[in-house]
Amino acid sequence: MKLNGKVAIVTGAGSGIGRAISLTFAREGASLLVVDINLESANETTQLIKESVKMDNAVSFQADVADPENAEAIVKAAIEHFGQLDILVNNAGVGGMGSVVDIDYAEWRRVTSIDMDSVYLLSNRAIPAIQKSGKGRIINIASAMGLIAHKASAPYSAAKAAVVHLTRQMALDFGENQITVNAICPGIIHTPLIDPAVQMDIMREWYIKKTPLKRLGKPEDVANLALFLASDESDFITGAAIPIDGGITSGTDVLHGPFAVS
Ligand SMILES: NC(=O)c1ccc[n+]([C@@H]2O[C@H](COP(=O)([O-])OP(=O)(O)OC[C@H]3O[C@@H](n4cnc5c(N)ncnc54)[C@H](O)[C@@H]3O)[C@@H](O)[C@H]2O)c1
Repeated sequence: MKLNGKVAIVTGAGSGIGRAISLTFAREGASLLVVDINLESANETTQLIKESVKMDNAVSFQADVADPENAEAIVKAAIEHFGQLDILVNNAGVGGMGSVVDIDYAEWRRVTSIDMDSVYLLSNRAIPAIQKSGKGRIINIASAMGLIAHKASAPYSAAKAAVVHLTRQMALDFGENQITVNAICPGIIHTPLIDPAVQMDIMREWYIKKTPLKRLGKPEDVANLALFLASDESDFITGAAIPIDGGITSGTDVLHGPFAVS
């Protein structure tokens, strides 16, 4: 097992990508603090781990990761339950649409505090604990929209781009502690976050048409990359922002204009 004896915190672990990462890590032997603002969904993930992994290696924890008061309690809970901390996955996130004119400041702060500030808040408390383990991992779930800007998504694109660059910055600061810091940049992954759009034929067909690999991503696609980044196999990778997007950020067909081929 690739994560035997490791302890991980996964935020936003009650749904979609965070749930898939939690299940994958648990199957590979990690003990997990399953953090979500929604306790019921965190409990569902913990229960799924118990059923599928047949191990009692996950504990649910309810917290809003955007609240500065909570970071210390989250890290403390991981240490109290499992005695150490090795891996932090900053996955919790929300979408945020609109141009800078469309959205008000409250909406700007809501999206950026969850998608960006939480990465700072959790890392600030988790890294000193991870340092005690001698080596460790920070994995930030950014977005393809953190690599290329997207129309009418000002707070989300800005927050995810900030997460990509903070990832690189943190990699510089903690390399000597053997803590690797990497970002995963998913494209269109079929999770509850985008399910309402995927249920519309016109949207699902559009997503598939625009994705070079001609399918939607699955949460397990992202979980497999997270597992690689969490494992010893990625020991010499830090500061990377890895797209997992079926090719969306590889380029554009804009020069074909309206004659673009499918
Ligand atoms: N699904 C995609 O296509 C896609 C693409 C790019 C990036 N991402 C990113 O992946 C991450 C996970 O997205 P998902 O698609 O699995 O979404 P999801 O909505 O299925 O799951 C997100 C989880 O985060 C939790 N959460 C939200 N706000 C929180 C808070 N303040 N504190 C604690 N928990 C909170 C939710 O309760 C939910 O369980 C997000 O950061 C998202 O931006 C997703």
